[in-house]
Amino acid sequence: MEIKIKNAAIMGLKADLLVLNLFEKTTTPGGATGSVNEDLNGIISKFVIKKENFEGKFGEMYLLPLPNCENYTKLLLVGLGKREDFSINKLRELSSYVIQKAKKIQNVKTVVSMLHGAGCAGFKPYDCAKAIAEGTMIGGYSFDKYKNSKSNRIKEFTIAEIDAAKFAEAKDGLEKGLLVGDTISFAKDLINESAEKITPDYLATLASELNLDEVKIYEKFDIVNMQMGAFAAVGQGSVNPPKFIHMEYKPAKARKKVVLIGKGITFDAGGLNLKTAASMMTMKDDMSGAAAVLSIMRNIKKFKPDIEVHGLIAACENMPSGSSYKQGDILTAMNGRTIEVDNTDAEGRLTLADALCYAQQLNPDVIIDIATLTGACVTALGLVASAVLGNNEELINKVIACANKGGERLWRMPMFPEYAASLKSEIADTKNSGGGKGGTTVAALFLSKFINETTPWAHIDIAGTAVIDKPVMENPEGATGVGVRTLINYLFCE
Ligand code: BES
Ligand code: MN
Ligand code: ZN
Repeated sequence: MEIKIKNAAIMGLKADLLVLNLFEKTTTPGGATGSVNEDLNGIISKFVIKKENFEGKFGEMYLLPLPNCENYTKLLLVGLGKREDFSINKLRELSSYVIQKAKKIQNVKTVVSMLHGAGCAGFKPYDCAKAIAEGTMIGGYSFDKYKNSKSNRIKEFTIAEIDAAKFAEAKDGLEKGLLVGDTISFAKDLINESAEKITPDYLATLASELNLDEVKIYEKFDIVNMQMGAFAAVGQGSVNPPKFIHMEYKPAKARKKVVLIGKGITFDAGGLNLKTAASMMTMKDDMSGAAAVLSIMRNIKKFKPDIEVHGLIAACENMPSGSSYKQGDILTAMNGRTIEVDNTDAEGRLTLADALCYAQQLNPDVIIDIATLTGACVTALGLVASAVLGNNEELINKVIACANKGGERLWRMPMFPEYAASLKSEIADTKNSGGGKGGTTVAALFLSKFINETTPWAHIDIAGTAVIDKPVMENPEGATGVGVRTLINYLFCE
């Protein structure tokens, strides 16, 4: 789908579908909707509103054939809801609904839309176009390369803006939104692909081909040599060897150095503590954190933050086999801390432990990791919100603000030290799972043992939000690419 914007009057363009909006309880449409209403002899005010009782509630839609209109075959009128409730986040959400609806309408290949939000809502044209681009890409995404019968695809989505000044600003916003959308879509593609294809080696090869300042790939030999005993153990049960991926973006004048770590378990069978069929079903998505980080690094030279950014992925498979790591094994992480394995399915934190140790050797100002880490997070927050924990109040608040700005929901969970009691081991410095309650906090407290207290660190648990089985706001069911918007915003937030 091509998404573009034109400096034109709506009636100067042509398409299969025209998208217009109305706030709740509007009786006389203004702006672009008003001018089309006049051109079409009051069909919106006299018919859709008066006769058909279209109220303009948020997300309400009314489809109308336009048999006598030369430019458009059909009109889709969408409700923006109450003016005081409308926001850029709502606009992104609405844009996703609109394109999902358009895909389902017969014979619609081309769409023209007004620039929602930049009229009487009074939002900046830049923000409106960006949100529309993001929402349209999110809702328009499909992963049907393996389907012989493809779903309907919209070919062209064009925003019409008649005002030259608004158009100029909106054009930049659209471009930025498309870049964010592309980053989300690429992450979703990686998550949706089968684990048969997305192996640690596949991710490493992909990373090494990116347009970056440097990419280092560490083989199993190097991983063992660097004393990443926790990460190496998780990977040892698979025929696909582990890879440690280090991607670097170094702009000329960097204000700060940030490390992003993505959990990269390309398949989590649970290891010898094998998962059930039901809980293993979605475990190709256990690299969703890695997908977000890799996808951001793929586009980072286009985003151009003035921050040095390092992307780290400890990529491996967690498989049961004769060479798997075992319950009771005692592992030594890169920082010398020892770990008694009480559950081989608590593997993500083991790989992250070594990645955190490696990250600190880069002397960063901030470390953020993103991981499908705990089932407990799914229980606590469901499909709606990701969890954030860490060792620095200011950083956590900043990350939450960046999530809110991008329309991603992020909720803070506690780091009370009492939760760590279950991790106590008689023979090593810590256990890996603890097997107790409050799993999301326990996992984060485990991770905190591998990071010094002085480096600000935030941990984002996306176990419930990375892949969803019901739609949530702009995200249709399936992979969401969650974290992309939050992390991109973070790279630009200060
Ligand atoms: N990858 C899973 C967590 C997960 C669960 C992600 C559901 C997405 C959906 C993780 O490696 C795991 O297996 N965690 C265990 C830890 C437990 C053994 C302490 C869990 O949460 O059950
Ligand atoms: Mn697991
Ligand atoms: Zn896992």
